[in-house]
Order: sequence, then C-alpha cells, then structure tokens
Amino acid sequence: MDQVDLIWHNGELVAWEDAQVHVLSHGLHYGTGVFEGIRCYETERGPAIFRHTDHLDRLAKSAELYYLEIPYSQEEIRLATHELLRRNGLRSAYIRPLAFRGYGSLGLYATDAPVDLVVAAFPWGVYLGEEAARKGIRAKVSSWRRISGAGLIPHAKASGQYLNSILAKTESQKAGYEEAILLDERGFVCEGSGENIFVVRDGEIATPPHVAAILDGINRKSVIQIARDLGYSVVERDIARSELYLAEEVFLTGTAAELVPVREIDDHPIGDPGEITRHIQAKFQDALYGRAEEYLEWLDFVEVPAEVDAASKVSS
Ligand SMILES: Cc1ncc(COP(=O)(O)O)c(C=O)c1O
Repeated sequence: MDQVDLIWHNGELVAWEDAQVHVLSHGLHYGTGVFEGIRCYETERGPAIFRHTDHLDRLAKSAELYYLEIPYSQEEIRLATHELLRRNGLRSAYIRPLAFRGYGSLGLYATDAPVDLVVAAFPWGVYLGEEAARKGIRAKVSSWRRISGAGLIPHAKASGQYLNSILAKTESQKAGYEEAILLDERGFVCEGSGENIFVVRDGEIATPPHVAAILDGINRKSVIQIARDLGYSVVERDIARSELYLAEEVFLTGTAAELVPVREIDDHPIGDPGEITRHIQAKFQDALYGRAEEYLEWLDFVEVPAEVDAASKVSS
C-alpha cells in the first residue's frame, strides 16, 4: 500500500500511522461496517472525483440498511474528502470511506457502540493491472454463490459481506485465474468478486438485473448510459451460465478495476477484447478523465495545488 501523510478519522486529519482503532471495536469482530471505493482522476481541468455524490448516496443507503447512523452529513464527508486530497497533495487517488461500529459493546444489538467514520485516500493503480485492461483476463465461475437477499443485503456495500467475495476471489486465484464470476442463489450469472458483468450476444449487451443479487454498481450505471448513448441496445435480464461461454464479448466494470475485458471463462475462449467492448471502454475512459463533455456532470472537481507546502501537512 502506498502510504501518504494523512487520514481523516472522526472529523480530524491524523497522521497515517496514528489512524488506529481499539481491538474490541465491534466492526472488527462482526464486520459491522459499510464502505465505498471511489476514484479521483487527474483531468485537464484538475483532479476530479468520479460520481462522488452517487458514491456518498450509496454509502448513506448501505448504512441505513444496517441501522448505522453516520454522524456526518454527506456534504461534510464530501468536503472532508476534498480537504484530505488537498492536504496529502493527491491529484489522483483511490478513496476509501468506511463507517463502522466502533468500541463500546460486543453485544449484537450494540446501538450504544458509536459509529466511527474514516476516509483514506492513497495512490492505487487499476486493480487487475494495465495489461488486463488491454488484453482481457481469464475468469472462473466460482463454486461459491453470491450472498442472497434471503440472508444478507446484496444492495449494501457492507464490510462483512465481503467474506463472500474473498472466498470466490481466493478460489479463482488459487486455481490460476485472475477473477471469479459468481452466480446468484438461483444459478444465474450475478457479477465478479468486485465488479459487475456485461455480456454481448448477437450485438446486444446484457447485464444481470437487480433481482440477481447484484451490487448496484455506479460504473455499471455509467456504462449502461454510455453504451445507450453510443447507440447500443442494453438489456437488464437474467443470464444463464452457458451464455457466458457462447458470448461474443464479456467485460467487467467497477471502481477499482474500471472496465476490464474477459477473454476466457472456465477455459472457454471468448477471444481478444471485441469491438463493442473497445468502443465503450474508450468512451468510459474519456468520461473518467474528463475528456467527454457530455459526462462532465459526473465529476466533482477538487482544488489541489500542484505543490503542497510540506509544513501545512503536519499542522492539523
Ligand atoms: C461486489 C461488487 N460488485 C460490483 C462492484 C462495482 O461497483 P462500482 O461500479 O460502484 O464500483 C463492486 C465494487 O465496488 C463490488 O465490490
């Protein structure tokens, strides 16, 4: 992990190494936390956070679903994140806000334990690597099914839920693949371990619907809009596992990974990244980096001076 100077912790900017919690914090034991993965990109008009408000909305909704009251407004968190980027001199970054039940009780109904909030930002290259974005990855359908709405809340981006993604990811890595594709409890295609999935068949783009227990990905939404604006037909429908092998093109979307083509699934070749994937990927990259006028409204610009005065970093 690329360490920077400061982390925002419960309203204060503290030194990276001092951003600590008690070992009896509730979230550490039970996964009672909600978080976001957000990216800030260096654009020609300055650093800009991609769909910041949408991420903060989802953070608030995830918290609500798990009865966590975040003691800061979305606007306070947005401005704190700007300050964090500025004070760390970060012009591009991966941003991780996390709200979790802190220290105070280990009971399961622990409403008396406070909800703590941290926001960290640090440099982090694309999750699956630059080559993956160009050439595509090999994926494996996981033996683990995606968590179902019968037992947890697929719409929430909650810490404890990621044990499911970690099982699937670990299995795929140990088997020599780069990513896992999870089916939902019914056996239909759901998503990657940290990305939504799109399948192209007969020139039409399909992506699993909300009832397939997906996370309502922000990049999924963006790519659906971009694809439609480019004139493609996009449908949200159930996708059978075998359709993955029959697909002309498959790609994944997510904040950490961005848009990644899939070139092989369960040893069935899909092929090199196809024309439709390439077309959408190029426009998506333009949107992320502020080169697409029509999507500038998705960007939350941050004023970060080119050179941050070293003295100002430690004076918090
Ligand atoms: C399980 C899961 N699905 C999908 C996504 C994609 O969501 P987004 O595009 O909002 O990053 C993520 C990443 O946050 C994820 O962790």
